[in-house]
Amino acid sequence: MVELAIDNGYRLIDGAWMYRTEPDVGKAVGNKIKSGVVKREDIFIISKLWRTMHDPKDVPVAMERTLKDLGLKYVDSYLMHFPLASKKAADEYEMVHLEEADIPIEVTWKAMEKLVKLGYTKSVGLSNFNMSQIDRIVRDCEFFPVINEIEVNPFFHQKPLLDHCKQNGIQVVAYGAFYSPENPWLDPDIPSLITHATIKKLAKKHGKTPGQIIIRYLYQIDCVPITKTNFIDHLVENISAFENWNGLDNQDMKEMAQLNTGVRRFKFDKSKHFKEYPFTEDM
Ligand SMILES: NC(=O)c1ccc[n+]([C@@H]2O[C@H](COP(=O)([O-])OP(=O)(O)OC[C@H]3O[C@@H](n4cnc5c(N)ncnc54)[C@H](OP(=O)(O)O)[C@@H]3O)[C@@H](O)[C@H]2O)c1
Repeated sequence: MVELAIDNGYRLIDGAWMYRTEPDVGKAVGNKIKSGVVKREDIFIISKLWRTMHDPKDVPVAMERTLKDLGLKYVDSYLMHFPLASKKAADEYEMVHLEEADIPIEVTWKAMEKLVKLGYTKSVGLSNFNMSQIDRIVRDCEFFPVINEIEVNPFFHQKPLLDHCKQNGIQVVAYGAFYSPENPWLDPDIPSLITHATIKKLAKKHGKTPGQIIIRYLYQIDCVPITKTNFIDHLVENISAFENWNGLDNQDMKEMAQLNTGVRRFKFDKSKHFKEYPFTEDM
């Protein structure tokens, strides 16, 4: 799928050690570089530091493991996956039942900054950080965070957080763009975004698909959407959202803004008891 994505024009690959996909992503990128389809510098590769590796002595270990898995000398951005430092669990892939570790995010950030100096990553960034946590990082950093990867979609705008990121020069990367339908880990009892009447109406008006309307909307609110699909048809459809089109007009954007329910899709609420649980500033 990654090779197909590159063939079809995708140039950003959102990964993380925890996704367990880095060896396959590395092979796919390597193949495309070898066959001359792209150069390494044409591709923007994101990886993320897992919650159990926040201790400064673990940070380079995690980074080196990711680079080895990817078969690459560097990534383009290395993000702190969550502001939720956790103790190591018996199963290193345990995602849900984790206990809090007493490692401040500022301390982990300092260790991540060293990765830039070592040449392991071109930049460092954040994921799932709220406004006050961003403030704590930017207050005393050597390298500014370049990204905050958070949930953003028409049902969950996060406008104050988007504005805050913009004021700090941080690019928002939007996950859950389609409200992550059929996600086996999440609540099945949710409204469907992709079949919402407003989205369908705008799709008809512009001769586009609902998915393309959502992608274009996210782009117009200055987010970088990282959509996921298992199907080639959707893969092609999603990358074509920008072709032959000036985009949504002001009235369309107003209608899209009215879809906000303020209900987060990804709550990660098994970590609600952590003192750094980030989703307390919701709007
Ligand atoms: N930083 C974090 O903490 C974090 C958290 C969650 C996710 N992420 C990242 O965000 C990425 C996006 O994942 P997500 O699960 O959040 O989901 P999403 O993009 O909101 O939804 C993915 C779902 O949308 C469907 N889909 C894709 N294109 C479509 C189209 N054109 N029309 C209709 N349906 C379409 C897919 O089904 P088909 O397979 O049938 O196309 C899939 O079921 C992940 O891969 C991951 O990289 C990051």
